[in-house]
Amino acid sequence: MIKKCLFPAAGYGTRFLPATKSMPKEMLPIVNKPLIQYGVEEALEAGLSDMAIVTGRGKRAMEDHFDVNYELEHQIKGSDKETYLEGIRYIMDNCTFSYTRQVEMKGLGHAILTGETLIGDEPFAVVLADDLCLVESDVGVLSQMVKLYKQFRCSIVAIEEVPMDEVHKYGVISGEMIRDDIYQINTMVEKPSTEEAPSNLAIIGRYILTPDIFDILRNTTPGVGGEIQITDALMQQASEGCVLGYKFKGRRFDCGSVHGFVEATNHCFKSLEEQR
Ligand code: UTP
Repeated sequence: MIKKCLFPAAGYGTRFLPATKSMPKEMLPIVNKPLIQYGVEEALEAGLSDMAIVTGRGKRAMEDHFDVNYELEHQIKGSDKETYLEGIRYIMDNCTFSYTRQVEMKGLGHAILTGETLIGDEPFAVVLADDLCLVESDVGVLSQMVKLYKQFRCSIVAIEEVPMDEVHKYGVISGEMIRDDIYQINTMVEKPSTEEAPSNLAIIGRYILTPDIFDILRNTTPGVGGEIQITDALMQQASEGCVLGYKFKGRRFDCGSVHGFVEATNHCFKSLEEQR
């Protein structure tokens, strides 16, 4: 039912300079796989096959990554190294990719609105690839959310508890608990101070959005940091209807920060070593 997944990937990634000066943050590898590929694999596992990527200047490496490289493939044909490309080949055989450019970086809400041309009038998922979500079971975070969407048919944001001294980095929600892992949201504040935060439940980079969000975003004025905030648009959706916060099962690494990136790398390297 949900087929499309939007990847806003036009941000500057300033926390990773100078690495991100000419390379997209989403192409930074966790061990040997770029962040965006983890995100696409999670979407594919959730049954989504149309990948819609919002890019920006200097981000062409993502398009090349999800395309064939005839020279390279010819070079390694028949060698053991062919196995390294099996994952990406599977993706290319089972997904389509479309791209649009965000010309001015006016925030996540604006990036999502820029993706409207690729999404159209249907519910869709959003993955921020720099939030790497790993699970121990076979059911990825987006899969868990798609299942929930089938039941509730409204926008859903993934949430997790964060320490109070970190709430200023996130959109923070509060609401009525309708299941031990689901909140019906009634308050949402973008990057609040510890005093202003309505709770320590932070929104992380996984969303299911209903398409009315585009009209709301079109009329959303810039908020915190002068950017068009998806949180403000979701708050309007919540006040007019229903938005759920879902405490997902799994572990999230904030790979947009050096600390989270190193943690994710160590975690994935350890898992790979254990599989050997
Ligand atoms: P971030 O807040 O992580 O911003 O954006 P950033 O620019 O990528 O990184 P820093 O803070 O400068 O290090 C969250 C997500 O929204 C996308 C980013 O690419 C990232 O996936 N984004 C943000 C856009 O696509 N466009 C924007 O204008 C802003």
